[in-house]
Amino acid sequence: FIITCVLTLFAYGLGSISGAISTCRFFSLTDPRTSGSKNPGATNVYRIGGTTPAVITLIIDSVKGAIPVCFAVAAGLPELTQGIIALAAITGHMYPIYYHFKGGKGVATTLGAGLVLSPLTTLFITACWIAVARKVRISSVASLTAAVLAPLTAYLLDPSYTLVYSILSVMIIFRHKDNISGLLTQNEKRLDKPDL
Ligand code: G3P
Repeated sequence: FIITCVLTLFAYGLGSISGAISTCRFFSLTDPRTSGSKNPGATNVYRIGGTTPAVITLIIDSVKGAIPVCFAVAAGLPELTQGIIALAAITGHMYPIYYHFKGGKGVATTLGAGLVLSPLTTLFITACWIAVARKVRISSVASLTAAVLAPLTAYLLDPSYTLVYSILSVMIIFRHKDNISGLLTQNEKRLDKPDL
């Protein structure tokens, strides 16, 4: 129980580190919270600074999700507990303690945590994300599609993680509420027209 508590706090603290804010500071780019979609995430860093900073952001935000789950697996914690630790890291990304609880949308951190939790499920929904992003050229449409497909995918490929992926799906869709409004009013930014 103590290991679970310590790992959950560690996951939340690590998840609270923002790949987007740190990367933009490192490259002397505009703060992602005040530019573009104002979201501290890899998509918005791509709008602000192009591919390299965006890929670095994606890696940082994914790795911070993967590390605590790796520890949970190494400690032999049950699947549900691994899921709780993944949720703690993703909650840290969405509501970071270091940035007044104003964080990102959780997609990259879910990718990293999910690759350790359930690689099959995560690879399938990542392939869906890539396919939709290439076709539609709108990141949020790809993320929302992946989030909607995640619970069913987990149920079919790795049923013990269905609950965790269902909770993640609801959290991610909720964090995309501004994107959903943008899509409904046709104001959502496309990936190939990164006008800020
Ligand atoms: O992963 C976040 C993405 O789905 C949307 O990002 O910057 O377009 O709101 P953004």
